Amino acid sequence: MSHSLSHGKPIDVGHFGLLQEDLPPPPPPGMPAPRLDLNAWFPAELRGHPLELEIGSGKGTFLVGQAAATPGVNYIGVEWARAFWSYAADRARRHALENVRLLRADAAVFVRWHCPDALFRQVHIYFPDPWPKARQQKRRIIQAEFLRELHRTLAPGGQIRIATDHADYFQWMLDHAAQVSGIFERLPFESPDSAGEGELVGTNFERKYRREGRPFHAMILRRL
Ligand SMILES: C[S@@+](CC[C@H](N)C(=O)[O-])C[C@H]1O[C@@H](n2cnc3c(N)ncnc32)[C@H](O)[C@@H]1O
Repeated sequence: MSHSLSHGKPIDVGHFGLLQEDLPPPPPPGMPAPRLDLNAWFPAELRGHPLELEIGSGKGTFLVGQAAATPGVNYIGVEWARAFWSYAADRARRHALENVRLLRADAAVFVRWHCPDALFRQVHIYFPDPWPKARQQKRRIIQAEFLRELHRTLAPGGQIRIATDHADYFQWMLDHAAQVSGIFERLPFESPDSAGEGELVGTNFERKYRREGRPFHAMILRRL
């Protein structure tokens, strides 16, 4: 249990929080990837529902709101900052959202080594860290190679849904999507069911940036 971010209230991730350390390690070179049965993370009665992934869930505002609005869909959120991961998993537990699981992991590792082919209906990436300095840009989660990996994990017709406040990073995303041309079509963004009036998605960062008057950029990349 921890208390960070929760103003002194104890945090309990229960069975809603999972750790990368509990997953099989990436294999030695030449060995097959240890892909997981991610449906098995959910109660038996929910298995077989469409599965969606959120990368960089932060405090879990999108995940909790969207999972409550769409109980017939299962959601996995991946967040590598321990304080955010535990806070989001505790929120899912308090709301008894059995269709939510939070994994503390590097999403790039999880997708590459553990996610099976043709599984996710949607992948949500909202306000990813922009790493604005030129020497840090290699840390950006959206890269051509990662888009290829996400494409592999998407069900036919599945979508990557992206929003950012950062014009330069958005252009970078378009450039990297162009490098993998022919495997996605770009569509206009549509807000999810849980978005509030006038909101694009309704994440914590969106709300903060909206108060600062920042413009937003968003798109859907649909698997062809
Ligand atoms: C700018 S915050 C946005 C959080 C949330 N999506 C929102 O809009 O409020 C980006 C989040 O992504 C997480 N993150 C960045 N890279 C990640 C990675 N490779 N794997 C998992 N989480 C990551 C960070 O820890 C951070 O919580």
